[in-house]
Amino acid sequence: MPDVQTFSTPDKLMCAAAEDFAATSEAAIAERGRCFVLLAGGSTPKTLYSLLASDPWRDRIDWLHVHLFWGDERCVPPDHPESNYCMAREALLDHLDTPTENIHRIRGEHDADTAANMYDKELRSIEQSGDGRPFPFDWALLGMGDDGHTASIFPGSPALSETRRRVMAVYVDHLRAWRVTCTPLLINAARRIVFLVSGESKAERLRDVLFGSQRPERWPSQSIKPTAGLVTWLLDRAAATQLRQ
Ligand code: 6PG
Repeated sequence: MPDVQTFSTPDKLMCAAAEDFAATSEAAIAERGRCFVLLAGGSTPKTLYSLLASDPWRDRIDWLHVHLFWGDERCVPPDHPESNYCMAREALLDHLDTPTENIHRIRGEHDADTAANMYDKELRSIEQSGDGRPFPFDWALLGMGDDGHTASIFPGSPALSETRRRVMAVYVDHLRAWRVTCTPLLINAARRIVFLVSGESKAERLRDVLFGSQRPERWPSQSIKPTAGLVTWLLDRAAATQLRQ
């Protein structure tokens, strides 16, 4: 059974996610001196970022030792309204004292292949400055789209069958756009993965993803199965209406 936690309101859901992040980052910094975080795009994560940028969370979290990465990006400049980095900067980073060297964005201003290669290189150089081994994210935040996609892994995406690359360029037909996405290979190595899902528009797909037959090609969020870590689904009541609990 997946670990599913449902909260009566969107506000309570956001507080639970903030608490989860605060506790995870505190433990990671105490054990390893830093916390590697993977951020998501989308409106649900944005609400969480604004909360984390406000009291009491902002002061409770040791942002100097938090390193921020992104699970996916659109091919737009960093100040573009569609940029996931821009969204996180406005909602969160502009309100913190995180050192710029702790911010590891995907460079969406380049073409998708170049941006994916640059990001992979950045991951490798961080690994080489440590013990050389691939590092797991301490906390990977994911959203889920109404169609069951997560990060920029859409139904039928080649990222679902990728066995080598941890980051790749993907063309999304229905959006007629290139995106850069982390693949399940990288996300599933995380120590802790948190899906944050809010609203009734997600209810039916959530039921399919959590309790339907295994069809990750159709419902990509099913491809998220941590190899050694934990995955938790944090939901509000509206998103959980189709679940039998
Ligand atoms: C993105 C994402 C994407 C998002 C979900 C949920 O760049 O759009 O990373 O996977 O998290 O689509 O988004 P909402 O919370 O807006 O529904």
